[in-house]
Amino acid sequence: MEKRLTRYLEMINEALAEIKYPQNPDSLYAPIRYELSLGGKRIRPVLTLMACELFGGDLQQALKPAMGIEIFHNFTLLHDDVMDKADMRRGKPTVHKVWDENHAILSGDAMQILATQYVAQVAPRLLPQVLETFLKTAIEICEGQQLDMEFETRNDVTADEYLNMIRLKTAVLLGCALKTGAIIAGAPVAQAASLYRFGENLGMAFQLQDDYLDVYGDPAVFGKNIGGDILNDKKTYLLIEALQQAQGDDLALLNRYVGNSGVAPEEKIEAITGVYNRTGTDKLCIEKMDTYYQAALACMDEILVPEDRKLPLLALACELMKRDH
Ligand code: IPE
Ligand code: IPE
Ligand code: MG
Ligand code: MG
Ligand code: MG
Repeated sequence: MEKRLTRYLEMINEALAEIKYPQNPDSLYAPIRYELSLGGKRIRPVLTLMACELFGGDLQQALKPAMGIEIFHNFTLLHDDVMDKADMRRGKPTVHKVWDENHAILSGDAMQILATQYVAQVAPRLLPQVLETFLKTAIEICEGQQLDMEFETRNDVTADEYLNMIRLKTAVLLGCALKTGAIIAGAPVAQAASLYRFGENLGMAFQLQDDYLDVYGDPAVFGKNIGGDILNDKKTYLLIEALQQAQGDDLALLNRYVGNSGVAPEEKIEAITGVYNRTGTDKLCIEKMDTYYQAALACMDEILVPEDRKLPLLALACELMKRDH
């Protein structure tokens, strides 16, 4: 199992490292090379390859679209780090810190186009379905990112609104990655749809966990600064539940700090984390994560292939739920 995952990762990393970029202008392509060389977990392209093998497809046919999906993911990170004022990613300074915001914007734009070029490298008869899936997902991610930004200045965001926002900004891309692999392998439409829902549920758990790690992670391992969501007043599940549960002094603390950028960052992070701990919203977040993980597993039951073929995907999903980065 372990060996198989390593093989998928090697395929992706080698293919990404071999991309030849034009020489000029170097400062358009250097940030792209930089971002793609920093590694990352490569979950999405691995999902595409695994989905292809799940339905007995040819991995080579899935490699280019898998690369395209990873390039697209990395594009979202360039813009997301500008929007979230994030200085660190994958343990390294973000593109807008190494260069500047204009580089992050334009190199990100170029990455979107490059991503689409790669995704489109499928057999002509599959192109309409693959592109439709990818483009629908791409626009949904923009919708999710916009909602995420709008929620920063609202204090009445409901848990359902949050869950829909993370579905759009994160979960659909995991679904898309899997569905793309399934389409390339020629899976029946209903089976591709079930696998999409497996990815979507896994993606929900994945973003809940990302929000958890943004508070409780170890920055040296997580690769991102801790407390960024708190400083940006992100309406995460943790904060939404805390706003619901907190009473007395804790509620007063939230009212004092949420939406207030005039305090020392460390003070704000410590105060709000303290409320999460006392109201037990950290545990609620983990419970919610597990609910989505279980929902993902239920979708896998709908997949009609021999059980042993599902093992790589199930193992990856299980590993993801224990991740620390
Ligand atoms: C980060 O995604 C953005 C989210 C959707 C939470 P990953 O955690 O997959 O980032 P990398 O690619 O492994 O760095
Ligand atoms: C990620 O949300 C969603 C996208 C990049 C589309 P976050 O803003 O939580 O991701 P990180 O934590 O910066 O990786
Ligand atoms: Mg963000
Ligand atoms: Mg971010
Ligand atoms: Mg995050």
